[in-house]
Amino acid sequence: LVEARLSGLAQRLRHKIEAEGPIGLDDFMRAALLDSEFGYYRHADPIGRGGDFTTAPEISQMFGELVALWCADRWLAMGKPDPVLLVELGPGRGVLAADMLRTAASIPGFRKAIRLHLIEVNPRLAAAQRSRLGEAEPCWHECFATVPAGPLLLVANEFFDALPIRQFERTEAGWSERRIAFDAASGEFRFVCSPLREPPPGAPADCPTGRVFEQSAAAAELVGAIARRVMAGGAGLLIDYGGEGGVGDSLQAVRRHRAASPLAAPGQSDLSAHVDFAALGRAARAEGAAVFGPAPQGVFLAALGLEKRLQTLSARASPEVLRELLLGAYRLTDRRQMGELFKALAISSPELGSPAGFS
Ligand SMILES: C[S@@+](CC[C@H](N)C(=O)[O-])C[C@H]1O[C@@H](n2cnc3c(N)ncnc32)[C@H](O)[C@@H]1O
Repeated sequence: LVEARLSGLAQRLRHKIEAEGPIGLDDFMRAALLDSEFGYYRHADPIGRGGDFTTAPEISQMFGELVALWCADRWLAMGKPDPVLLVELGPGRGVLAADMLRTAASIPGFRKAIRLHLIEVNPRLAAAQRSRLGEAEPCWHECFATVPAGPLLLVANEFFDALPIRQFERTEAGWSERRIAFDAASGEFRFVCSPLREPPPGAPADCPTGRVFEQSAAAAELVGAIARRVMAGGAGLLIDYGGEGGVGDSLQAVRRHRAASPLAAPGQSDLSAHVDFAALGRAARAEGAAVFGPAPQGVFLAALGLEKRLQTLSARASPEVLRELLLGAYRLTDRRQMGELFKALAISSPELGSPAGFS
């Protein structure tokens, strides 16, 4: 009965656990999201009303327009290199890049200089990107490592939250790792605690008993690689939801716009966790890059001129479009919506000075 209920990926994870013992949450997430056959991001069409969740560029065109202005500011600070690589990590349906390219055309020389590189593992989303961005002749990559050398502008919106994390728990007896076991009786995956001899590196000494500490080696490694590239000339803007310090259990699963159980049905729901911006900042600084923020998304977009852009667009909008514009601005910036939980972090070559949006 249990066999019949488990999907192909769950079967595979079950066999691995039975052979090797409980696995780390990072291994579970990597399989659930990226398994080449069954991983969520290999087959899902996740974004929008018919999918599992929506994102800032899908909410309002103003998001991509303002991110384009941020990039234009960095491009000017870099001395207007032509060509310049515009790299987007996890471009979804290509909406952010499309809004950025349209805006870039209003800045003399910028649009012409851009060579678009998209990092994507999902064939269905890559097809959507192709139909929306085909004219810009993008290059697709499965990972950042294959992006060619050259002056770089990089953006990532809601990408880092999908990278695998490990979870540790401070118990009365010391630190342990939360790993995933398989319970044969119920046919379900469940968390178990594996005691550790040493505290996990980077864990806060004052972490209260009973609290969870999260860490993403994948995110730190990727930021290190981005920082090394911006040190050769360029800047990156990472926007995601999260906080600083990694304390707290933030693992979540979303399916059809509703919370789901993270360990049930691996590969069939989106798994994500809060981004630890302090850890990303440390990884970038370790490579010598300058780091700005994190700034709350509402503050960041306001500093880039959201109000003015809203006024300009509103001036010629129908009542329905006006309503959509106002609702979009509200959702992106209100503290109870995306304005505070979502944050922007900039990584820049130090000689470029402070970027726009970070006062
Ligand atoms: C939450 S969506 C965000 C989409 C888009 N940035 C937006 O704001 O609408 C995550 C995106 O990253 C891609 N993705 C997730 N993990 C990835 C990985 N490890 N490597 C490359 N792409 C990945 C997904 O396929 C998707 O395009």
